[in-house]
Amino acid sequence: MTRRKLVVGNWKMNGARVANVELLDALKQAGPFVAETAVCAPFPYLADVALSLQGAEIAWGAQDCSAHESGAYTGEVGAAMLAEFGCRYVIVGHSERRAYHAESDQLVADKAKTALAHRLTPIVCVGETLAERETGQTDAVVKRQLSAVIHTLAHCISQVVVAYEPVWAIGTGRTATPEQAQAVHALLRAQLKAASEKAGEMKILYGGSVKADNAVALFAQADIDGGLIGGASLKAGEFAAICRAAG
Ligand code: 13P
Repeated sequence: MTRRKLVVGNWKMNGARVANVELLDALKQAGPFVAETAVCAPFPYLADVALSLQGAEIAWGAQDCSAHESGAYTGEVGAAMLAEFGCRYVIVGHSERRAYHAESDQLVADKAKTALAHRLTPIVCVGETLAERETGQTDAVVKRQLSAVIHTLAHCISQVVVAYEPVWAIGTGRTATPEQAQAVHALLRAQLKAASEKAGEMKILYGGSVKADNAVALFAQADIDGGLIGGASLKAGEFAAICRAAG
């Protein structure tokens, strides 16, 4: 089964209006790419990003959404609001949200469900901490995180993108080796296969210190279908090179 690769930039809490336009202009110039590409920007910039990317083959997404439809949830952003602007993807369960905002596996699953209800594609992040890896808990942790989403979405699970992001590799410059990443991706694929006959078509992205010089080896792995890119997605040349590595 050949799956088209997907490379998504997660800008995290970075950017500024003028700099964003420059970054996107440079990306558009560098493309089009064989791989699917997208950028996930902070909420206030999304309308600008949508405008900048009009007519370009680069999709855009948000970095979070509420599990609720609407109502008295101060500070939250609803999936319906994102959909109104033409949003395509929404990252849910990033390890930074799990760690700094105490997001539980079930909350992450509920967010994915709400996103899907509004035809957004959730990019569901899973990954173990360094302590969990060193104590041999990697498989159990990622399985537990994915299992909550599988149970909540049931047959709709095939509509999500999964991203494996080992916490110890995020922003540290210490990437998982292609073999380490592939081992976890294969495990996740097997878990998805047990839940959906469409698991072979699903994309499982790797994230954590992906750079232009390690992307080719990572993307060559059988179950790695692209990347979720943090720091390197803020530099047009570097991000474009990663997109090309996925082509
Ligand atoms: P870095 O690429 O900066 O390590 O971040 C990865 C990440 O968290 C993407 O969501």
